[in-house]
Amino acid sequence: MKTNTPVHRCQYLVLGSGLAGLYFALEVADRGTVTVLTKHRRESSNTRWAQGGISAVFADDDSLSKHLDDTLVVGAGLCDRDMVEHAVARGPGLVRRLADRYGVRFDRTSDAKDAPFELGREGGHTRRRVVHYRDMTGAEVERALIEAAQAHPNITMLEHHMVIDLLSWTKVDGTRGCFGAYVLDIERDQVEAHIAPLTVLATGGAGRVYRYTSNPPVATGDGVAMAYRIGASVSNLEFMQFHPTCLHHPGANTFLISEALRGEGGILRKKGGAELMKDRHPMGSLAPRDIVAREIDAELKRSGERCVWLDMTHLDGEFIVRRFPGIHARLTSLSIDMRREPIPVVPAAHYMCGGVVVDRYGRTEIPGLMAIGEVAMSGLHGACRLASNSLLEAVVLASGAAEVCDDFGRGPPDTVSPWNEGNAVDSDEAVMVSANWEEVRGLMWNFVGIVRSSKRLERARRRIELIREEILEYYWRFRITRDVLELRNISLVGHLIIECARRRRESRGLHYTLDHEATREHFAKNTVMDKYSGPRSR
Ligand code: SIN
Repeated sequence: MKTNTPVHRCQYLVLGSGLAGLYFALEVADRGTVTVLTKHRRESSNTRWAQGGISAVFADDDSLSKHLDDTLVVGAGLCDRDMVEHAVARGPGLVRRLADRYGVRFDRTSDAKDAPFELGREGGHTRRRVVHYRDMTGAEVERALIEAAQAHPNITMLEHHMVIDLLSWTKVDGTRGCFGAYVLDIERDQVEAHIAPLTVLATGGAGRVYRYTSNPPVATGDGVAMAYRIGASVSNLEFMQFHPTCLHHPGANTFLISEALRGEGGILRKKGGAELMKDRHPMGSLAPRDIVAREIDAELKRSGERCVWLDMTHLDGEFIVRRFPGIHARLTSLSIDMRREPIPVVPAAHYMCGGVVVDRYGRTEIPGLMAIGEVAMSGLHGACRLASNSLLEAVVLASGAAEVCDDFGRGPPDTVSPWNEGNAVDSDEAVMVSANWEEVRGLMWNFVGIVRSSKRLERARRRIELIREEILEYYWRFRITRDVLELRNISLVGHLIIECARRRRESRGLHYTLDHEATREHFAKNTVMDKYSGPRSR
């Protein structure tokens, strides 16, 4: 590794290239220079994998108050009502802006340019309100925003650049700020410093903390880990959402089978054909996902089967292929024809409802540091996220952040210490990194999954402490690589999830524990942690 530390400067430093990061970058780019860093390729983000769409009120039989109510019901008492009102009110305008200004091609009810959006339906929604592009909404959003960002002269996108740590300062009077990041340029094996008055975390989620996940390999919780390390508060990490229906197939375990299939009438069945959700919830197969995922988990444990089945065979085959071309093509490549046979499905980790604590404009408690998208905990989702409210939150926080950010950045210190790699040498023990990766993900899946217990959480706590000690020792002894940085981050995020879960001695939303199966009024508050004060509720 080269030993000097090049220093780069810009006005806005954006970490992550999903919907939140790109939308923010585009909205501020006329005001100053923007650098967007992404640790893999620019299109590698959770956004790109989003199939469903963006929830927003457009239907005649819908209203903002219905969207508000559905969000609050699914959020199980922990949503911030003001944030929910803010988000649902801004949704329709922002969806139109994505279409009109940035050229996102949402499906419409006819070929006319201004025809109404075609609306899908997903779990927990009492109305059709999911604006989508076939079953590839995220990929289409990414396509449009990447094209727009590439065309803007003020935006520089750097691929294969992974943040090591945020740069922060604290004065004796306690004031503090963030002024950029140390970054590993992976291809050149070079540590650089990127300095900016404003740093925006748009690093996405942490599904990769779990062995089975619908998330892409980049979703390793980097933003939560980095923000926590400089003293920002993180919250509600016990609420990891498990999507009920990921494909169960040896060749494609992480492939999502969108909830929109159940929105169009798909039915979950047990082996033998009985309806899984019959008499379990008034919305049947379209019940909120925490409830469906738990039913599947219980059924798998009861029956000893490895999956349940999603049945689309009673629906019009032509419609299925037109509405879900991406899923149909993927299944066909695995010799599954969903028009004729049920799809084998299992739950998998999908979405992090908690994150770095922000207000409704994406401001963290640390001046100069904003967090937008899945990395943030804005209060929109509470204890469980309503389907397709995630892309909504990403664009609401990104647009709000762009409005207020120029008053939130702090003049950065003008200099930064060179990166000090001490006596670190190249490692000849890569196996230690891969073994620890597997161990963290396995223990999170087995002990901190859909159904928890105090004993399982305690076991997970003890094991992850030992693993973290080993990883930290390795981090200081050997030269850093992307794998090591990610392992350091997933192990910290795993630890934070466990600590949040241990503190919630009740079951609520996505957190279900056999030792406290009831919901308790005393716990109707967020679990908040920071490195200095430890865990607390508020
Ligand atoms: C899906 O298409 O089922 C995922 C949508 C979401 O997670 O909001």
